[in-house]
Amino acid sequence: MTTGFGRDLVAALAAQPRSISPKYFYDAEGSRLFDRICELPEYYPTRTELGILQRHAGEMGALAGPGCEIVEFGAGSLRKVRLLLQAFEAPARYVPIDISGEYLRDAAAVLRREFAGLDVQPLVADYTQAVALPPAGKGRRIGFFPGSTLGNFTPEEALAFLQGAARLLQGGALILGADLVKDPNVLHAAYNDGAGVTAAFNLNLLARANRELGANFQLANYAHYAFYNAPLARIEMHLVAREKQVVAVGGERFAIAEGEALHTENSYKFTIAGLRDLASRAGFRPGPAWTDPERLFSVHWLHAP
Ligand SMILES: C[S@@+](CC[C@H](N)C(=O)[O-])C[C@H]1O[C@@H](n2cnc3c(N)ncnc32)[C@H](O)[C@@H]1O
Repeated sequence: MTTGFGRDLVAALAAQPRSISPKYFYDAEGSRLFDRICELPEYYPTRTELGILQRHAGEMGALAGPGCEIVEFGAGSLRKVRLLLQAFEAPARYVPIDISGEYLRDAAAVLRREFAGLDVQPLVADYTQAVALPPAGKGRRIGFFPGSTLGNFTPEEALAFLQGAARLLQGGALILGADLVKDPNVLHAAYNDGAGVTAAFNLNLLARANRELGANFQLANYAHYAFYNAPLARIEMHLVAREKQVVAVGGERFAIAEGEALHTENSYKFTIAGLRDLASRAGFRPGPAWTDPERLFSVHWLHAP
């Protein structure tokens, strides 16, 4: 298998327990499904974070200063950054980074038409690897990592990512969105929506393998299973086989027994104090932390000295 997805899927299927990075959800179809998740009544994080950004973008703009450059990690639909671009004083450049290339390029083209004069430089890249940014301009470099995507990392990976971000953003800051620990039933509902969109998003991993790698997953054989693991403060998503199946991927065959699971995502939840401590250990100096009245979600200003 020549693609990273192919190699990692074969390795995941060969291992026990089976687990693969959630970054492989995101081909163009995965990005579209994620955007539908963001509109679901059960999925409070997007609307709550948008509300926090709406209320506090002015304060963030004052901290960023004029002519800054915004670098967004895992940019997706570019919906949230519009609130910053509108509130900040003459932002000079915007570098959205995403692994979902076709989707990113289309979203960047729309944004470019909306913000004439803004230098928009989309970067199709995996932000867990070294990212080559365009040389820094005159303004401060402000990172933006919304959507609580940080929660998809293990705590060790999150620390490593933040250490890298602190180096990349030296002299600037990171605006970080982090979902908060809360009633597990609210969390559970957010990943088990009634319309089945999260299930389709989870199953898209297998659909993508069929499309891109010529695999033969029978999608109807796999159940979306998401639950809150309270001791680890994380939602776990799995795909569980309803029946045994022999799957062929990249010339290799794997016997999957009834009830066996492929672990597809973790989504860690944070406390404000825990997040600030993690950021400090990564080299940031925590500034303001904003939240909503129900304390569902948080947005953090982290100085990168
Ligand atoms: C949970 S979505 C969040 C999207 C958007 N930022 C938001 O807040 O609604 C995660 C985004 O990060 C991207 N992504 C996931 N893993 C990535 C990686 N390793 N490198 C680059 N982008 C990644 C996905 O394609 C997706 O657009």
